[in-house]
Amino acid sequence: MILTFSNWKGGTGKTTLATVTAILLAARKKHVLLFDADSNMALSGVFGQVLKDFTSMSFLSGTGENFKGIYPAMEYIDIIPGDLKNMLLNNIMDRQLKINLKRAGYTEKYDYIIIDPPGYWGAHTRNAVFAADVLIIPGTCSRIDLEATKLYFRTLQQCYIETETLVCVNAFNEKTNLPGIYEEYRAEFGEYLMAEPIPYVKSLKKLTSDINYALQAAVKNKLDRFVDAITKEAING
Ligand SMILES: Nc1ncnc2c1ncn2[C@@H]1O[C@H](COP(=O)(O)OP(=O)(O)OP(=O)(O)O)[C@@H](O)[C@H]1O
Ligand SMILES: [Mg+2]
Repeated sequence: MILTFSNWKGGTGKTTLATVTAILLAARKKHVLLFDADSNMALSGVFGQVLKDFTSMSFLSGTGENFKGIYPAMEYIDIIPGDLKNMLLNNIMDRQLKINLKRAGYTEKYDYIIIDPPGYWGAHTRNAVFAADVLIIPGTCSRIDLEATKLYFRTLQQCYIETETLVCVNAFNEKTNLPGIYEEYRAEFGEYLMAEPIPYVKSLKKLTSDINYALQAAVKNKLDRFVDAITKEAING
C-alpha cells in the first residue's frame, strides 16, 4: 500500500507524520519503504541518510530496474533518500514514480511505501499524488493552513483525482489554536476529515536528533489510532 503525505503549503507536518507512521508500522513488523521526494531532504535527515550517491532523483530518472539506492534506515524501514537537485528534474511524467515502484518490485517487496513530497505543486508532488493509494493532507489550525488545505483539496477534486483522500488536522492544541478553525475544518471536509486530530507533541520536534523520541511520543499519544485509520488496519492486523 502506498501512502502519500502531501499539502501544497509547507510546514504542515508531512515529514513528521510520514516518520511517525513509518516507525509505528515498523513496530508492527511491517516492512516500510520511505521515499523522500523533497529536495530539503528532511525525511532523509531524520534517518541520517543525506547526500547519498543514489536518491529519489536517480530512481525517477531511470526505469526503476536494478536500482541501487535503497538504504537501511532502521529495522523494518528502508529509505530512498532525497536529493538537493530534485527541482532540476521537473520534466518527468506524472506517473513515473508509480510505474517505477511497480517495475522495481517494491510494491510487492514492502508492506507500505510512504512518500514525502515537497510542500508545493510540482513534478515530484504530482508523482507522489498519482502513486498513492491513500493521500493524507495534513494541516494545522492556522488560517493559512486551512485556506491552503481547502484550495488543495478542491483543486484535486476538480481534477477527479480518484485516490482515497483524508484531511488530517495536525499539531492540534486547544489552548493555542485559533478559535473556530477546527470547526471550520469539520464543516469544510466532513467525511474526508479524520475523526481525531494529531495533537501538538513537543517531543516530535526532536525527530532528527533521536528517532526514539518520535516512537515514545507516538505511543504515548496513541498515534497508533492514526495509523489504523490511514491503513485501515488494526494494531497487529
Ligand atoms: N504534531 C506535531 N506536534 C508538534 N510539532 C509538530 C507536529 N507536527 C509537525 N510539527 C513541527 O512542525 C514543523 C513542520 O513539520 P514538518 O517538517 O513535518 O512539516 P512539512 O510539511 O514536512 O514541512 P515542509 O513543507 O518544509 O517539508 C516542524 O518543526 C515539526 O517538528
Ligand atoms: Mg517535509
